[in-house]
Amino acid sequence: MNYIGDKQYWDEKFLSRGDKILSPEGSLVENIKYLKNGSLLDVACGDGRNSIFLLEKGFKVTGIDFSSRALERLKNFAVRKNLKVSVKQVDLTKQDALKDLGVFDNIVINHYRLSLDNIKNLGKHMAEGGILFVCGFGHKHKVDSKIKEEDLIKPEDFESLHSSFELVRYIENEDDRGFFVIYIFKKKV
Ligand SMILES: C[S@@+](CC[C@H](N)C(=O)[O-])C[C@H]1O[C@@H](n2cnc3c(N)ncnc32)[C@H](O)[C@@H]1O
Repeated sequence: MNYIGDKQYWDEKFLSRGDKILSPEGSLVENIKYLKNGSLLDVACGDGRNSIFLLEKGFKVTGIDFSSRALERLKNFAVRKNLKVSVKQVDLTKQDALKDLGVFDNIVINHYRLSLDNIKNLGKHMAEGGILFVCGFGHKHKVDSKIKEEDLIKPEDFESLHSSFELVRYIENEDDRGFFVIYIFKKKV
């Protein structure tokens, strides 16, 4: 399952975007104090509004996405700001898509619903005491032609993490864009 659209959809979307980077996700900015200093994997990073913000805050960021256009844009934004980012083109519909990426102090998943197979593997890529930040359309969001039922983040998505992670914070937000959830997990030491 691809999130909202296939690679062509996202490549075209990023190609038609202006030259300015978007602002980072508000809930990430608000909750940055929960993140651990060090390395960070930005999953489905897009053109990097969050990656750039996190690089500026001193994190060592790796961004992954299946859109080559998005990753090109992220690299260009980073060069312009004299920041060093690592990017890798990864199709997250693949089982074990995170294989070979290494271990991180933080993993951020913003506006992407990761498959259960890949969620199950997150622990392997997270350092002890590391933080997993997930934000996106939640289970009570109204589905439409664009955001479908299978795109919604559900509490049971994280069942496989219960033995190795603790939930540090859970937030529900509702505004005119819809119903959002934010999960912050910490890997048990
Ligand atoms: C709503 S955007 C979120 C981008 C970024 N996380 C942000 O908050 O701005 C969803 C992202 O998921 C990526 N994506 C969708 N399906 C994917 C897949 N199967 N594998 C990897 N990336 C995917 C898209 O290219 C896009 O960048």
